[in-house]
Amino acid sequence: MIEPHGGILVDRMAKGKEREDLLERVSSLSRLVLSRRDLTEAENIAIGLYSPLQGFMLQKDYNSVVEGMRLADGTVWSIPIVLGVDEETAEGLKPGEDVALTDGNQVYALLQLEEKYRVDKAREAEKVYKTTEKEHPGVAAVYDRGDVLLGGKIKMLNRVKHEKFNEYRRGPAQVRSYIEERGWKRIVGFQTRNPIHRAHEYLQKCSLEIADGLLLSPLVGETKSSDIPVEYRIKSYEVVMDKIYPPERVFLSVFPPAMRYAGPREAIFHALCRKNLGCTHFIVGRDHAGVGDYYGTYEAQEIFDNFTPEEIGITPLRFEYSFYCKKCGSMATAKTCPHDRKEHIGLSGTKVRKLLRAGKRPPAEMTRPEVADVLIQGMAETGDKE
Ligand code: ADX
Repeated sequence: MIEPHGGILVDRMAKGKEREDLLERVSSLSRLVLSRRDLTEAENIAIGLYSPLQGFMLQKDYNSVVEGMRLADGTVWSIPIVLGVDEETAEGLKPGEDVALTDGNQVYALLQLEEKYRVDKAREAEKVYKTTEKEHPGVAAVYDRGDVLLGGKIKMLNRVKHEKFNEYRRGPAQVRSYIEERGWKRIVGFQTRNPIHRAHEYLQKCSLEIADGLLLSPLVGETKSSDIPVEYRIKSYEVVMDKIYPPERVFLSVFPPAMRYAGPREAIFHALCRKNLGCTHFIVGRDHAGVGDYYGTYEAQEIFDNFTPEEIGITPLRFEYSFYCKKCGSMATAKTCPHDRKEHIGLSGTKVRKLLRAGKRPPAEMTRPEVADVLIQGMAETGDKE
């Protein structure tokens, strides 16, 4: 089994006597009400998805990640994992104290507050997202975040109650034990924020040809409003799990973090999290985690060249833009198809969505009819708009 990033799978879930003792202390602690996104981040840390992180970043790690894509100790890490609060809230909290993290009702975790610090958001935006434009949804989230960052370790007392997809929420420990049970040695992870289409399927199946197992890891955290809603994403995967994939070779487990749209830097982050889940390989196609035209088509693949394979640990499987070619009679890429572009079937995401909204199936070479049908139904039910 592949080692977690940094060598040890972090487990910050309080258990047994420790948990009982902490629960008794909770009533005397300062309380901080967190958004669902931040509470989920605390949980992601606690279950080891972000190993080796044990808490929200301290300033030295934040600086080192922003500047050079490494934690202060040199371990590769590409995205700041931070907790921002406003000045007034920060004023009432003292480093050295434990702070109870709640959703306004229940206490879920303790933050062992070590440090409060302020950062230059424009620098973070420029370094991590390569732009300071607030139209970029990841940059917008940085600017929306409170100005004071709270650093310190997390202890989780109660798992967050998520409304959706609980049957597919498996943390690193569970996914790893499933992999072990199956006896898989090579496991390919796939990140997505979209319903499955034929290009995705092509990438997944090509990868599965050289691997023992495929971990489908669709993101269920926050996405920008113009992305197709998460329900359809998961339903589309249920369809292919049921009809298209060999059940003994494919495992579906949702990925809780929010999308950052940080392109190349996010590809590294996505890969490291999948390594913590037990994957040995990770698919990086064209414009991975991209938005608009902030990043080059293959920048999310090239960024891996800044590190040695040992430093990353998980192997990126790089795929070119894939499409259906009528002459080839199959899915292909520029690497395998010699034919003219007019032989290729390709519609933009916007056009596909327009068709689905009108109750029409896109070409079967792009979206499987079974998948198109659940998307059409989903859009009708939720009144999907442009
Ligand atoms: S992402 O933001 O989660 O990366 P998306 O769900 O569109 O977006 O893509 C999931 C993965 O499939 C990414 O690695 C992406 O690069 C890859 N991908 C999507 N469409 C294609 C395509 N037509 N050709 C090659 N790779 C693709």
